[in-house]
Amino acid sequence: MAVPSEHAAYPVGLRLTGRRVVVLGGGQVAQRRLPALIAAGAKILLVSPSATPSVEAMADAGELTWERRGYRPGDLADAWYALISTDDDAANAAASQEAEENRVWAVRSDDAEAATAWTPATGRTEGVTVAVLNTEGAGRDPRRAAAVRDAIVEGLRDGTIAAPHHRRRTPGVALVGGGPGDPDLITVRGRRLLAEADVVIADRLGPRDLLDELPPHVEVIDAAKIPYGRYMAQEAINQALIEHAQAGKAVVRLKGGDPFVFGRGMEEAEALAEAGITCTVVPGISSSISVPGAVGVPVTHRGVAHEFTVVSGHVAPDDPRSLVDWASLAKLRGTLVILMGVDKIASIAAALTQHGRAADTPVAVIQEGTMATQRRVDATLETVGARVKEEDVRPPAVIVIGDVVNAAKTFAPGNRS
Ligand SMILES: C[S@@+](CC[C@H](N)C(=O)[O-])C[C@H]1O[C@@H](n2cnc3c(N)ncnc32)[C@H](O)[C@@H]1O
Repeated sequence: MAVPSEHAAYPVGLRLTGRRVVVLGGGQVAQRRLPALIAAGAKILLVSPSATPSVEAMADAGELTWERRGYRPGDLADAWYALISTDDDAANAAASQEAEENRVWAVRSDDAEAATAWTPATGRTEGVTVAVLNTEGAGRDPRRAAAVRDAIVEGLRDGTIAAPHHRRRTPGVALVGGGPGDPDLITVRGRRLLAEADVVIADRLGPRDLLDELPPHVEVIDAAKIPYGRYMAQEAINQALIEHAQAGKAVVRLKGGDPFVFGRGMEEAEALAEAGITCTVVPGISSSISVPGAVGVPVTHRGVAHEFTVVSGHVAPDDPRSLVDWASLAKLRGTLVILMGVDKIASIAAALTQHGRAADTPVAVIQEGTMATQRRVDATLETVGARVKEEDVRPPAVIVIGDVVNAAKTFAPGNRS
């Protein structure tokens, strides 16, 4: 018979709801462990003369009971589980001894060898808890456990670890905001739903590179190429979403930025609701904030801009279809962010200056933000029309107007990804 190593451990999931857990010490270790104990529903008694501000906030919020004093023998009476992490070695040893005598499983932050339990590195995703114990050397390599945990959780989230659900996937449509274009800037949820999709209907903008990663059985449809014959283009897209969902497919409608920022997301959600199809909305990082940020332009900055306004520039200010009150916008002091405005920027700038915005207000035009081809053209309201022409700026571009354009004095964005 194999002799178990002295570091063998038996993994288990403790169901702590309503059960007493004693935490000795209110420092960094407690701060890290308490949220999971609270989430597990434990009845927590914290014994510690002091606590970090975060631990104190948990006590203030009634998430635990805090007795402001040091450890006293008897503290572990009736406990099911204990976390011993004071900065007093003698108190830790005495509490450990009491735990052993009372058969209370106890974790020790100062001496893993002396503990009767070890805390695994844990992560949660999609209703699954991943717990990793490093059982070589009494869990003395917590970084390795954390690295394994991260690899598993990340893999499950982004779909690189295939762990299919055995419950039937609910057919329906997920309206996923894909972010501004860099494939790393989609949300974790968006990426997972994409990995689980049978059909993806994608816009021209957004993280197109992610489509190449999809397995061959996934049907990828370019929204711009859906034939619309007797329908308008948008109706044809709605119809395609409805038909694929009604065929029992898991459909992702992948959109650039956020689905509800000039993205016609609500029209699609409404059409799906009318057809009785479940629609999940996954927010995305809108280009209106992220593209300026990518070139080091903050849309607000203390002492410079207390507001930012995002406007569509797809129709000129004098166009009767325009819903934008350019005269009022010209009177604001804050930042104006214009999407879909490259073609009309000369008339937009003219309307703003005519209604009172200073002609020397700085402007930055950022084309293909967050992508390898990103570029920035600087101008003022007076010069922007000409600069956009000279530099042959093309859509997609975000135009930022306001003093925030020059907010960065020394900062230049790095390119760590
Ligand atoms: C139809 S709107 C969609 C906006 C999107 N829903 C969002 O939240 O970012 C398209 C416009 O967004 C802007 N845009 C989107 N992605 C961009 C990018 N990577 N770089 C520059 N502008 C971008 C451009 O102004 C483009 O014409």
